[in-house]
Amino acid sequence: MEYRVKRTPITSVKTACACVAVFADIQLSAEAKKLDKLYDGIITSAVKSGDISGKVGETLLLHLPNQSTHQRILLAGCGKPKEIDILKYRKILNAVLSTIKKTGASEMLSTLATLSVRQQNVRSLTRTHVIQAEDNLYRYSETISKKKPESKLKKINFICTQQRQAQQIRRGITQGAAIAEGMLLTKELGNLPANICTPTHLAKTAQSIKRGQAKLSLKILDEPEMKKLGMGSLLSVSAGSVQPAKLIALQYKGARSKSSKPVVLVGKGITFDTGGISLKPGAAMDEMKFDMCGAATVLGIMQAVCAMKLPLNVVGLVASAENMPGGKATKPGDIVTSMSGQTIEILNTDAEGRLVLCDALTYAKRYDPAVVIDIATLTGACIVALGHEASGLMSNTDKLSEELLDAGQATGDRAWRLPVWEEYQTLLDSNFADMGNIGGRWAGTITAACFLARFTKDYQWAHLDIAGTAWNMGKNKGATGRPVPLLAQYLMQKARVA
Ligand code: BES
Ligand code: MN
Ligand code: ZN
Repeated sequence: MEYRVKRTPITSVKTACACVAVFADIQLSAEAKKLDKLYDGIITSAVKSGDISGKVGETLLLHLPNQSTHQRILLAGCGKPKEIDILKYRKILNAVLSTIKKTGASEMLSTLATLSVRQQNVRSLTRTHVIQAEDNLYRYSETISKKKPESKLKKINFICTQQRQAQQIRRGITQGAAIAEGMLLTKELGNLPANICTPTHLAKTAQSIKRGQAKLSLKILDEPEMKKLGMGSLLSVSAGSVQPAKLIALQYKGARSKSSKPVVLVGKGITFDTGGISLKPGAAMDEMKFDMCGAATVLGIMQAVCAMKLPLNVVGLVASAENMPGGKATKPGDIVTSMSGQTIEILNTDAEGRLVLCDALTYAKRYDPAVVIDIATLTGACIVALGHEASGLMSNTDKLSEELLDAGQATGDRAWRLPVWEEYQTLLDSNFADMGNIGGRWAGTITAACFLARFTKDYQWAHLDIAGTAWNMGKNKGATGRPVPLLAQYLMQKARVA
């Protein structure tokens, strides 16, 4: 999709569809008033007829005579002006996009980038607008032989009145397009089936992200190299699979000072999670192809960071393996030694995410990180606790936690914090090793984080459990691209370009 900014009065721009806001209690926005005047009260009479009341998410499409400057006017219900927040804003955009998608319009004029939304400036609204448009128009097609017809909408023109706004909109378009492109990669990788999206495929994807990017370097560790480093925990997960594990390290050096400490992102990349010998039940097991969405998030973010040329140092690590039963598979009770030297009794081979992450988290130390954030579809318990709205956030540092929560709040890609108190640690006690890999029935999301916390004592660390947010279940099954918006916002904030 193409995005442009136009600093012209709305009444004089020729368009297939002009989108303007209508507020609750049938109040017209300034731009709506201008069109209403131009077309002899057409909006007022539509509103008076009761066809639209101005609630958030309502839309009404008006057709104008053929020779008009505006072929269509799309009224967007926006609720009470003072109550519009980022979530309502996204709902408004989704309604607008779904309506226009059903028309023949190939282009639209949007006034919504300059709508007043609580705690949001024109740049961030434009960013959200672009992200929402790309997200709404995305269709998975990679393995479908009859390609669905592409959307007719090809161009969005943002209209504004001030020079300063135009500048902000331009920046918002660049950032939004970069983030949307990152999310697209995240969704595409998540949606690919596990017979295509293997650890090797993720490594190849990292290679294609690297291509042509001077600020990026790439290192891919294979199993013999990981063995040399002592990654017994990570390798215990791939033991039962014919697919070799990969540890992928993408290093982006964008900071003005070369010595500035990087943000290190670590993604869980289980390309399929059968549970291993602790086999999962069959129902909905297909969804365990999404168990690499943390890895896909890291790759998507690295792509977005490059596209935005963020003045930051960022490292993306992906710990990837396939969790299968087999003759060589790890068995319950097996004990492995992690790269940190700590031993682990694997009481349940289905708690494999933490086993690949702990070695990657130890490996992260060599980058002398400012902070480390891991992203993982780690526990079913997280879905029980938070449903599909919020990602679980756990951390050993309050400030980092708050920054991530704020980034989630600002984008609507929200997280919610759970404690990682010392008192939970005893649940991981083992009679035969330094720790077990499961904590029993209660607080499953927290005990998983407690396990990781034993490997992250040397730096500021946060853990995002995205089990409930990385993909939609049911009829709209598919990857969401979350939490790319949250992390992109966090990094932009760090780079002071948000
Ligand atoms: N990948 C799963 C977590 C998961 C399950 C995410 C369902 C989304 C939907 C993870 O590897 C897992 O199996 N976790 C176990 C941990 C348990 C064995 C301690 C779980 O949540 O049941
Ligand atoms: Mn599992
Ligand atoms: Zn898993």
